[in-house]
Amino acid sequence: MRQNPKLWAHAKHIAFIMDGNRRYARKSSIDRQEGHLQGFNKLAETLQWCLDLGITEVTVYAFSIENFKRSKDEVDGLMHLARQKFEKLLEEKNEIMKHGVCIRVLGDLTLLPKDVQEVVADAMYISRNNTRAILNVCMAYTARHEITNAFKEVSWGVSKGLLKPSDISEEVLEKCFYTSHSPDPDLLIRTSGEVRLSDFLLWQHYSVLAFVEVLWPEYSIWHFFQGILYYQMNQKQVQLARDKRDALRLEAILESDKTEVVKMLSEENKCPEETAILPQRIAEYAAQRQKRITNFVETLDAKRTQQLLNMLPARTMSEIPTS
Ligand code: FPP
Repeated sequence: MRQNPKLWAHAKHIAFIMDGNRRYARKSSIDRQEGHLQGFNKLAETLQWCLDLGITEVTVYAFSIENFKRSKDEVDGLMHLARQKFEKLLEEKNEIMKHGVCIRVLGDLTLLPKDVQEVVADAMYISRNNTRAILNVCMAYTARHEITNAFKEVSWGVSKGLLKPSDISEEVLEKCFYTSHSPDPDLLIRTSGEVRLSDFLLWQHYSVLAFVEVLWPEYSIWHFFQGILYYQMNQKQVQLARDKRDALRLEAILESDKTEVVKMLSEENKCPEETAILPQRIAEYAAQRQKRITNFVETLDAKRTQQLLNMLPARTMSEIPTS
C-alpha cells in the first residue's frame, strides 16, 4: 500500500525517559534491583519494536548525574547492571554487527566507575562504523552538564586559536554536545505520569513530547503505538517550529558575518555603505568562518576519539593495528 507522506510522517528518532522502575518494584513487592532489571528487559523489548517499525535511532536516559546522589547500594546495583548488560552485548558482538547497530554512550563518562568505562568504551569502539541503527545510551548525563561542557569545548577552541569568538553560534555549540551526531528526537516519551524533562535533552526539545501514566516496566506495545499516533497528530507543529528556528539561526549568522566584515572594512578605512564589494567580502568571510568551524570540529572529534581510546581495556587496545 502506498503511504501518503503528508498524512503519515515517520518518526525516525525516539527518545525515552524510562521512569518508574522503583515504584513498579514497590507496587509488585519485588526488590528495587529487580525493578531496574525489569526496566532493562523492557528497554530490550522496546528496541525491538522500534527496529520492527523502521525507527533507526533511539536515545534513552539510563542514568543521570543526579542519580549518583542515590544510596550507594542503589548506584552500585545500577552500575553492576550496566556492566553486566554491556559485557553480554560484547559477548554477542556478532549480533550487533549483523544488525549494524551503532552504540553510543553519551555523558561525562569519566564519572563512571573504571570497569564500566571500559565496557562502554569497548561497545562504542567495536560498533562505531555501524550505520543501520543507532542506540544512544545517556549515562552520567544531564542536559545542563552537556550545555556547560559545550561552552568549555568552545572556549578551548578559542584559546587554541581554532575559533574566533564571533564564530560562536548555536550551531557551533551543538557540535560540542555529547549528542552532536544525532538529530533532535522526533518524539520523546516519558513514562510514570511525571510531566517534566528532568534535565534530559533540554536543548534538543524540538520534539513531540508524550507523557504516559504507566510505569516503565509495564510499558506495552499498545502504549508505544499510542505514542506513534500522537506523534503523527502533532509532528506538523513541531516541524513548523523547527523551520522557524533554522531560519532565525541563519539570519543570526548572516548578521554576525556582516558585522565582522563592516568592522574589518572600517579598519581598512573603507566606508561599508559606499563599497560595492560588501556582498563579496561577506561571502569570502563566511567561507573562512565555515573552514575554521570544520577544522575545529575535526580537531574536537579527534580529541574525543583519543579520550575513547584511552578508556578502552588493554585487551582491546592490543588488538588495534598500529599504523
Ligand atoms: C528511573 O526510574 C530509571 C532509572 C534511574 C534507571 C533506568 C535504567 C534502566 C531501565 C536500565 C538501563 C540499563 C542499561 C544498561 C542501559 P526510577 O528508578 O527513578 O523509579 P521511580 O521513578 O519509581 O523512583
